[in-house]
Amino acid sequence: MALTGSAFETAHPARVYDHFLGGKTNYAIDRAAGDQVLAVWPGARQAARANRAFMHRAVRILAQAGVHQFLDIGTGIPTEPNLHQIAQQTAPKARVVYVDKDPLVLAHADAWMRSTPEGRTGYVEADITTDVDRILTEAADFLDFGQPVAVSLIALLHFVPDDHDAHGIVARLLAPLPPGSALVISHGTEDFDPEVMRRVAAVYRNSGIATQARSWTELSRFFTGLTLVTPPGIEAPHRWCPDPTDTPQRAPDLDAQIAMWAGVGVKRPQLRGRPRRG
Ligand SMILES: C[S@@+](CC[C@H](N)C(=O)[O-])C[C@H]1O[C@@H](n2cnc3c(N)ncnc32)[C@H](O)[C@@H]1O
Repeated sequence: MALTGSAFETAHPARVYDHFLGGKTNYAIDRAAGDQVLAVWPGARQAARANRAFMHRAVRILAQAGVHQFLDIGTGIPTEPNLHQIAQQTAPKARVVYVDKDPLVLAHADAWMRSTPEGRTGYVEADITTDVDRILTEAADFLDFGQPVAVSLIALLHFVPDDHDAHGIVARLLAPLPPGSALVISHGTEDFDPEVMRRVAAVYRNSGIATQARSWTELSRFFTGLTLVTPPGIEAPHRWCPDPTDTPQRAPDLDAQIAMWAGVGVKRPQLRGRPRRG
C-alpha cells in the first residue's frame, strides 16, 4: 500500500514525541523531523522521559490529595503507564477525559478504554485553540464539575503560540471548575539554552509545526490566581517533587538538556462576604 495523505506527508507533534520516547506509532516524516531535533537538541529524549515522570508524580500527588477527575489535553499517543492508570492506582474510581487534536491519537485510544471497572475514561478529539467550549461541554458528560478536576496541559502549550491567546484559553478552561481543582503544566523554555531552543523551533517551523518557548515568568502567568504546590512551585520537571528514592539532580547541564519548566497550581476558594470589623 502506498503511504499517501497528510498523515504521512507532514510531521505531527504527537508522533515526533512518540519517536523521542522510543514508540512505534510514528512515520518516516516524523522520524526525520525528530532526528533533526535530536541533532540540535540531544537532550530531547531525556526531556520526554523527564516530562512523563513529572506527569506520573503530579497525577499521583493530586490523586492522593483527593482530586479524582482529570481533563488531560494534548494527551499524545498512549504510552504506558497512561495518566488514568496512574490516577486509578491511587483512586480506582478516578475518571479521566483525554483530549487531542490529532486523529491518529484517537486511532490508538482503545488503550485508554482499559479503565478500572469503577473508573471511567473518555476521549474528545478537539483543538484547544478553537474548541474550548466543546471540550468543556463534552468533558462535563464524563466529569462532575461540582467536584475538583485537574486540567493537565503537559508538553502542550509550547504548541500554542500567543497569537492563539494561550493564557486566555487556560483561564477559560479553569473558569467553570470548583475550588480544589488543579492546573498541571509542563512547557519548553529558552531560559537555560536559548540558542539550542531557537534551533529546535526552526526545525519544527520547517516541518510545519508552530512552537513558542516560554520563560519562567511567562509560565507563572498561567497560574495567576492559583496556589502553587510548594515547594517546589515552578521547577524543572526532574526536580519537581522528586520521589524520595531519586538522586538529587541539580546539574546545570541537565537543566539545559531538559529545557522545560513544570508546575501544579490549585484553585483557591473564592472569598465571600465582607471582612468583619475589629
Ligand atoms: C509533545 S506531545 C505531549 C503528549 C503528552 N501530554 C505527554 O506529555 O506525554 C503534545 C501533544 O499535544 C497535541 N496538540 C498539539 N497542539 C494541540 C492543540 N492545539 N489542541 C489539542 N492538542 C494539541 C499533539 O497532537 C500531541 O499529542
